[in-house]
Amino acid sequence: MADEDYDYLFKVVLIGDSGVGKTNLLSRFARNEFSFESKSTVGVEIWDTAGQERYRAITSAYYRGSAAALVVYDVTRHVTFENAERWLRELRNHTDANLVVMLVGNKADLGHIRAVSLEEAQAFVQRERLFFMETSALESTNVENAFTRVLTQIH
Ligand code: GTP
Repeated sequence: MADEDYDYLFKVVLIGDSGVGKTNLLSRFARNEFSFESKSTVGVEIWDTAGQERYRAITSAYYRGSAAALVVYDVTRHVTFENAERWLRELRNHTDANLVVMLVGNKADLGHIRAVSLEEAQAFVQRERLFFMETSALESTNVENAFTRVLTQIH
């Protein structure tokens, strides 16, 4: 993607435990481009962490210059939700207060083996003042919505 093709170019980071679906969310969202009513074209540069075994500090270089972050957990694995709190804390230690942060509960297609309730997630997002969405990268549900929502908040 060439910077000069866009009126704005935003960096968005994806964080969360291994296996929650970050890479699949990213590949679902392959177009990386939005046109808003203002007619300005917004590019998104998405950074995906690779192969984190579990919660682990990542270098501040990863976060530098980011406008938004998606903190992803897997709705079928409660530990990934618990760790979202740690990811969020680390994120906030490395970024400034106006970073747009969205909590993303991925694998919503697996509702029959859900381990994190909507109520539980909602309590967390209210406490931490986050945006929130459940997604399915597999079924392509809410993926574009999640990115659009976040970009609208930056824009
Ligand atoms: P790391 O690269 O290890 O950090 O993992 P990741 O967070 O990038 O997860 P990845 O996208 O590799 O997905 C992990 C597994 O979950 C794969 O087997 C995916 O097929 C599966 N998966 C991802 N998203 C979904 C989803 O929305 N629904 C279901 N059912 N499976 C998913």
